Amino acid sequence: QVAAASGHTVVLVDQSDEILKKSTKGIEESLKRVIKKKFADKPEAGAEFIKKTLKNLTTSTDAASVVHSTDLVIEAIVENLEVKNKLFQTLDKFAPEHTIFASNTSSLQITKMANTTTRQDRFGGLHFFNPVPMMKLVEVIKTPMTSQKTFESLVDFSKAVGKSPVSCKDTPGFIVNRLLVPYMMEAVRLFERGDASKEDIDVAMKLGAGYPMGPFELLDYVGLDTSKYIIDGWHSLEPNNPLFAPSPLLNKLVEEKKLGKKTGEGFYKYK
Ligand code: 3HC
Repeated sequence: QVAAASGHTVVLVDQSDEILKKSTKGIEESLKRVIKKKFADKPEAGAEFIKKTLKNLTTSTDAASVVHSTDLVIEAIVENLEVKNKLFQTLDKFAPEHTIFASNTSSLQITKMANTTTRQDRFGGLHFFNPVPMMKLVEVIKTPMTSQKTFESLVDFSKAVGKSPVSCKDTPGFIVNRLLVPYMMEAVRLFERGDASKEDIDVAMKLGAGYPMGPFELLDYVGLDTSKYIIDGWHSLEPNNPLFAPSPLLNKLVEEKKLGKKTGEGFYKYK
């Protein structure tokens, strides 16, 4: 959405036409929210902005067949290294020489993905934040093999889509998630111990620390499955680090398919 809205030609790829239809509808809804603010007094310019943005956006269920005309691939699939590597290996065969590959991973090592391709120097991380149309930050990740030219292209792209880039080494969670995920897990542990209710913890962090959402609201927003993937991955890397300890309550909710806002229930219930 943000790439198309800033004039880039985008092919959105997913596994089925059904998912792509749902995604396109989500983008249309989000664009309507964007124009309400951006073109408050000019509804016609707003409608034109949506039309132009959607014109820049096509969809496909076959990444290999569309990658030949792509300068930049941004992967944002399931948070599973094997699945990501398989996709990158396939795309590596079909993408032009100059194409840069970037992963939007929340927690996995970019180096491990780059190493499964033949373009380690044209590989980096581009980590966006939910909701992407609103959150101004992008973390740009440079592995030891990422070339300076690639890094600069990723920084330039981030600016071109209207974001503020920061850079970080290829370390678990980069900057934001390395701080945010242990904080959210500490909130769950506080609740699990019965020290405070989830409602009070959320109110406390909003009114006492100025966060726009409390930790439980944010966990539900990000998705409990994604949060579990992140913490489980880090726990397996550093089993003795108490910040990365898994939570029985989080595991139970994920097992019950209560994944947060997207499934209608997580820590809270949604209509
Ligand atoms: N698309 C377009 N616009 C959107 C939007 C979307 N998906 N979601 C919200 N907005 C707009 C609304 O239209 C509204 O615009 P307005 O000011 O013109 O009315 C504005 O954002 C504020 O939205 P709301 O009034 O609905 O609600 P809030 O004031 O609570 O703001 C929020 C919503 C921007 C999501 C805010 O609560 C927030 O900043 N929350 C924290 C988000 C956060 O921490 N994200 C990071 C998550 S971690 C992550 O993503 C990393 C990953 O790797 C796990």
